[in-house]
Amino acid sequence: MESRIPLFIANWKMNKLAKDVQAFVIPFNEATQDVSAKSERVLAPTSVYLSALVVATKGTSIHVSAQNCGTAKSGAFTGEVSAAMLKDLGVGWVILGHSERRHIFKEDNNLVNARLKAAIEEGLTPVFCVGEKLEERKANQTFIVIENQLLGLKAHSEAVLKDLVVAYEPVWAIGTGENATPTQAQEVHAFIRQWISKNISSTFANRTRILYGGSVKPENSSQLMAMEDVDGLLVGGASLDPLSFGEIVKKGLNS
Ligand code: 13P
Repeated sequence: MESRIPLFIANWKMNKLAKDVQAFVIPFNEATQDVSAKSERVLAPTSVYLSALVVATKGTSIHVSAQNCGTAKSGAFTGEVSAAMLKDLGVGWVILGHSERRHIFKEDNNLVNARLKAAIEEGLTPVFCVGEKLEERKANQTFIVIENQLLGLKAHSEAVLKDLVVAYEPVWAIGTGENATPTQAQEVHAFIRQWISKNISSTFANRTRILYGGSVKPENSSQLMAMEDVDGLLVGGASLDPLSFGEIVKKGLNS
């Protein structure tokens, strides 16, 4: 198996003001300095603070990610930020298809796939999010839902998908304090890897990182990371504090 460097992403969602974004970087970088060579750390602020974060993380190995991107390079798309603009700012990563985009803002698979296409055309690393709702899990539809969400990946070659990251975030675990058990996460992660293996290639599946997200905290990061197919964590609420996110990274690496 090719090695998959553990990846930890802070999704700050619509939180923090400029001063908080600046204040995060130094303590978080210090707290995780000794593990920086054996992990990748990514911070995803709202788009208005991306530039400031690119500047604040200069000279560190911390990457910066956007939380979404537009489908076109430019044009009459009020409120959208294009992948070309992100690249222009020095942002290398983008979260796509997050549950809140899908469910609050009604982004369907077609739209998420169009965003994916735009992101990879600009060479951004996509963090492609999938996950089922509670009623779908209860109705034994988890794998069907996830498979439908993954289908858009088939449109691209592995050379283009390159460093694709998939994030499994069960909707019922996001912001609820109730994380998926490590066994539940492993089951879906293994399904995702098998799907990639079958539909793209087994070498690509072996090197693609699959992250878990949903109520990750310092207390559960090592158990989740101990699972064979959990290659990293996508963290919301507990990533807002630099020391808490730092603990998640360090404990996750000690799994
Ligand atoms: P919480 O960690 O707050 O549950 O959020 C998870 C998430 O949506 C990360 O993208």
